[in-house]
Amino acid sequence: MEIRVPTTAARAKVGPMDGFADRSPTFIQLDKPDAQAPRDELLAGLQSRPASIAPKFLYDALGSRLFDAITALEEYYPTRTEAAIVERHGAEIAAACAPGQTLVDLGAGNCAKAAKLFATLKPPRYVAVDIAAAYLRDALERLQRAHPQIEMLGLGVDWSRSLRLPAEAGDGPRTVFFPGSSIGNFSPAAACEFLRSCRAAARGGCLLIGVDLLKPRHILEPAYDDALGVTAAFNLNLLRHVNALIGADFDVRQWRHVARFDATRGCIEMRLAAREDVRVHWAGGERQFLAGEHIHTEDSFKYRRDDFAALLRDAGFRQLHWWTDDREWFAVFVARG
Ligand code: TRP
Repeated sequence: MEIRVPTTAARAKVGPMDGFADRSPTFIQLDKPDAQAPRDELLAGLQSRPASIAPKFLYDALGSRLFDAITALEEYYPTRTEAAIVERHGAEIAAACAPGQTLVDLGAGNCAKAAKLFATLKPPRYVAVDIAAAYLRDALERLQRAHPQIEMLGLGVDWSRSLRLPAEAGDGPRTVFFPGSSIGNFSPAAACEFLRSCRAAARGGCLLIGVDLLKPRHILEPAYDDALGVTAAFNLNLLRHVNALIGADFDVRQWRHVARFDATRGCIEMRLAAREDVRVHWAGGERQFLAGEHIHTEDSFKYRRDDFAALLRDAGFRQLHWWTDDREWFAVFVARG
């Protein structure tokens, strides 16, 4: 029997002997976990007509797991199409990004998409940004063990309001990574503003961004209303999260998930519609919803490739590169300047 003794090189790769052995990620919560703020925001949305609940409330612990399940559904093509583009054109994408910059990951979650870029982008520092630093702890600690040479920072900031990075996110040019077509969840005007703030955050580096492209209704609608009902569960879970946050008494069974493509606006609209007349109470208030009345939960805008390029130019980017899949369902852009 042959016993293999690990070589120095092999050991350096796994980390324990290479001088970064004790490195651990830093965590910073920028937006103070202010208990009142989400409450005020939720109540304002519930009382407006039509009612709305901000999409960030979709992602409690169960919501995040349900979204992971969505990405595995046959109907939900964006995640796997984006991954295939990045896999196939990885070398060119990395060259367009200029490797060796700090990598800033917006809406990092389990950090899996960014981790796949480490080999080609070779970031000296990885900044994972999510709404709560606590969500990032497990993923970043695991990643730090696998990549001891990368300095890791977990940042809790509600980037849907404003993207500002603290000094710990490093100086010099950065690669800002915004995958998953989350940009589609902003209205085009708000998207332009947000892209401007990405450009500022990149400090002369670049933006690496995924965007879902316009396609026929019969492909778009099932992606947001799948046969198994996982997306419906994900959207309905929002009501349970709201119950927990403001002590409301939404009965999930009285509501129905609706996903509809609005061809004029170029977006999928996600709503929850009351199945019957419903009265909802919370500490200090209540609201009546008539049968069929809805709560708006999220828009997902789809772009033509050229329209998205124009939006990037409006936001101040000058040099654009893009890649797409054979069906032209999704595009990955690198923008700089
Ligand atoms: N950002 C994702 C998207 O627009 C989120 C999403 C997928 C979503 N399915 C949903 C949001 C259903 C609300 C309801 O593709």
